[in-house]
Order: sequence, then C-alpha cells, then structure tokens
Amino acid sequence: MKLNTTKHRHSGTRRRPITRPIAAAALGATLLTGCQQANQSLFIGDMSSAYNREIWWMSVWAIVLSIIIFVGVSYALFYTVQKFREDRHDAPPAQFHGNNRLEVILVAVPVIIVFGLSILTVRSMAILNPTPEQATKIDVLGKQFWWNFAYPETTSDAGGVVTNGNEMIMPTKQPVALTITSGDVIHGFWAPNIGGQRAAMPAVQKTWQVDTERPGAYQGNCSQLCGASHANMRYKVVALDQERYDATLAAMKAYRAPEPAPGSAEARGYALFMQGKSSTGAVSCAACHRVQGTPAGGVAGPDLSFFGTRRTLGAGMWEAMTDKKWEDPKAAKQLSDWLKNSPRVKPGSLMPTYDGSEYRNTKGELVKGGTLTDAEIDDIAAYLRSLQLPEEADYWRGSPVIGAGATGGNQ
Ligand code: CUA
Repeated sequence: MKLNTTKHRHSGTRRRPITRPIAAAALGATLLTGCQQANQSLFIGDMSSAYNREIWWMSVWAIVLSIIIFVGVSYALFYTVQKFREDRHDAPPAQFHGNNRLEVILVAVPVIIVFGLSILTVRSMAILNPTPEQATKIDVLGKQFWWNFAYPETTSDAGGVVTNGNEMIMPTKQPVALTITSGDVIHGFWAPNIGGQRAAMPAVQKTWQVDTERPGAYQGNCSQLCGASHANMRYKVVALDQERYDATLAAMKAYRAPEPAPGSAEARGYALFMQGKSSTGAVSCAACHRVQGTPAGGVAGPDLSFFGTRRTLGAGMWEAMTDKKWEDPKAAKQLSDWLKNSPRVKPGSLMPTYDGSEYRNTKGELVKGGTLTDAEIDDIAAYLRSLQLPEEADYWRGSPVIGAGATGGNQ
C-alpha cells in the first residue's frame, strides 16, 4: 500500500486524537471480554431471571416517563422562547405578581411525576423483596477473598452442613433465598444473570432472592472494593434443573471423601494435608479447610470437600474448563503454583506458603512459611484431585458456560 506520502502523513497526524479513543475502546473491550484463563464476561439484562425481568420493565416505564417529561419541558421551553422573542415585543412585558393557578400546576405536576415513579418502585419492591417460604435456601459467606456457599437444609451423613467453596449450585425455575453475610469487611454478591447485587456485611444477615430459568454456569464477582484481591474474588453459579439439582445435593449429602489406597500419592498427600510436616514448619491444610467425611474441619478457608469436581481455583482466578480438570498440564501447574505460594499468585491471600517464603498470617503478622518439596506438593495436589463427587453428580458436566468467550466452555 502506498500510504507513505506527505499528504497521508499529515492526515495521520490530524487523525491521532480520534484513533486514541478508538484504541482505548478496543483495549477496554479486550479487557472486558477477558483475555486470560477466566474469560467469562458479565452481562446485565438476562431475561431468563424473573428478578431481572421485573427490574427491566420497571426501568422501561421509568425511562418512558422521563422521555415524556423531557419532550414536554423542551416543548414548553422552545414555545416560550419563540413566542416571547424580544424582536416581536418592543414594549417592556406586563408586570404582575402572583398567579395562583400557575403555582398550583407547577407544584402538582412534579408531585404527580414523583408519585408515579414511586408507585413503580414500590410495586417492584413488593414483588421482589418477600422471599417465599418454600424457596431453596443457600447461606452465602464472603471473606477476603473467596466465597463459601452452605446448604442449611442439607446436613451431610458425615456430619455438618453441606458446603461448597466458590461454586454455588442452585435449582432453576424457582426462587432461591440467599442469606448473605461477611466474615471480615464488606463484600458485594453480584451474579447479574440471576438477579441484582447485595452487600455482604459482617454481623449482618440479609436474605433476598435470585432465580433463573436457564440451566448453565454463570459468572459472579465481588462488587464492593474489599482489598488487594477484590478483582480476584469471583465465583460461579451453576444452575441445574430440579431433578439434577436434587441428585447433586443427595450425592453431596452422602459424600465421604474417598480413602486413599495405602502407599499411593493420594495417601501421602492425605497425610500432609491432615498433619503438615512439622520438621520443615509446613502447617497442615486441615487447620483451615474442611473436607467432608475426614477429620479436616477448618473453616478459615474454603470448604474443599468437592475440590476435584470444581473447575475453578483461587476463587475463580483460574479455570480448568475441560473434563481433565486439574490433570490438564496447564491447570496442574496453576494448582502447584497455588499450593507453593498462594499470596504470590493472588495478592492478599491468607494461605500459608510452602516454599519457605514469608507470608502474612490471619493476624496480619509477617511469618516465615514452611517448606515442602515439589514431590510433596504433587502429592497434596493428587489428594485434592481425588476429592470428587460421583460422576452423575458432577454439576459441571453438560452445563453450558453462559457468556463465555470463544475459548471458554467446558464441552
Ligand atoms: Cu470482596 Cu471485593
């Protein structure tokens, strides 16, 4: 192409102020659609949710009303300016004081407008706020920087309420009552496909409902600035049809972590997970994590009972959206990096390090981490991968990832 002429160079210089915003917009689009592992995008206005439909129609009415007001006020303005132009009226305007009719109209019209908009809002609140008794109940706990989802109506056969970290399973076609709280600072629960956002506040429990008609995996993010890894405080919502949801919950209820075969990598990993390695200062995983059906009952970190079924790591920072999950070489590397030094890959993570480097513990003190060899890290990874629900209860299987980019999906 013969672009290198003086003329073109000049027009190029002049064009620069336009190309810059375009480049910025393109960059923005890239960032929004995501160019990393976790490349699912959020979008609002998903009409598969009754909650969203209600909010949508309320907004449409409010916008239509605003347009009518805008047109009315604009008309009155232009009409007055045109009618009382100075060049048509040489004489000074008539001087008068007080016009009761006009004053009443000017007060009454805004009152009617505000009243109309309030009716719309109150109507939507009356529809959306009460949570039906029979709604499925899920307790949501936000912490720096991850989420725990507990099913208070389902107590596991091994003891304790069924709980999953960072992946929320919900039934479709019915209201789901979320009771949301926080273990530290204020977080924001926001999975726009299934409803609006709600603050997760410490010592406060708020219940409100979400729903969707479409089975699939949806993206959720923390929507309240909460610290170093606010942007890495993600989660997935996997909506399943009632039958599959019930089967999954039943499998979770019956689940006991598989007992590793003696001498296997899983068995070595199990021992490290439960006891750590005191000779090198490596603290046990069980102190902070729970694994259903084992002595591990820690609650400082996410529940790991179904880790091998999960397809997200580090609260959705990394995804393994293939059937190989954490066996996939790239995902396996992420898992091992995570286990060795989680605060390095996720700023603000409170997990101890296992490569000897310093980390901040839950009290905020800088302490020296213990050490594990690469082989030992691999053993722990093997144990974590073995924590799988039976295949028919794998909630990811066949769940379309809604809003995923071209490289996303789990088919
Ligand atoms: Cu939690 Cu932002």
